[in-house]
Amino acid sequence: MITIKTPAEISRMQEAGKLLAEIHRQIAGLIAPGITTHEIDQFAEKFMKQHGATPEQKGYKGYPYATCASVNDVICHGFPKKEKLKEGDIVTIDMVVNLNGWLADSAWSYAVGQVSEEADKLLRVTKESLYKGIEQAVAGNRIGDVSHAIQAYAEAEGFSVVRDFIGHGIGQVMHEDPQVPHYGPPNKGPRIKEGMVFTIEPMLNVGTYLTKIDADGWTARTRDGKLSAQYEHTLAITADGPLILTAQ
Ligand code: MF3
Ligand code: CO
Repeated sequence: MITIKTPAEISRMQEAGKLLAEIHRQIAGLIAPGITTHEIDQFAEKFMKQHGATPEQKGYKGYPYATCASVNDVICHGFPKKEKLKEGDIVTIDMVVNLNGWLADSAWSYAVGQVSEEADKLLRVTKESLYKGIEQAVAGNRIGDVSHAIQAYAEAEGFSVVRDFIGHGIGQVMHEDPQVPHYGPPNKGPRIKEGMVFTIEPMLNVGTYLTKIDADGWTARTRDGKLSAQYEHTLAITADGPLILTAQ
């Protein structure tokens, strides 16, 4: 069942989203060779607490941290670690902020120092693919229009789209209907309506879209060990089009 949010509920989610966006802005300034994803995780958790919010991911189905930190071939759900990031790495930081019971979800990939041309293009195309999807997130379209726009753009640029993890409705719980795949045919799936709130969060890979999960039960990697990146926003569908609640 897809829940419809009132304008008042959407504005509460936007407050959570603004806080999350501020954390990403701060992280962008912290990312450099030598910092650890553990330090970034501690920063994010502390920032949320200082602003009256809580990290919704911590304890979610037993996930142990406030953030997911996914380096290089890790697609998503990587654990923050006390290992230093190195020049040339790419890292995705993903988190869900709970502010007064309403949630916002956003992941962002970062370059650590100077990265390869391939990594740079992957970051650029993955971010752009998110905005290609957002453009289609208008009342009257179908979810498949979002999915298709992302896949068509990503594949035309030579990258693959992960199938095993998808976007989702969100509100007072992290995962609601609708499911939002980042691949598939246009003009299929649920009709997009005013008041829906969902994430779009494409994960693009340099090589195969196939995944494998580490022994920790969480860390998802590319099966071929090649790079993966992800950008995610939470958006609300309004009469004026998609409103990005996690806009930085
Ligand atoms: N932010 C992720 C999402 O898009 C959730 C990560 S799973 C968790 O759904 F267990 F870490 F929360
Ligand atoms: Co999400």
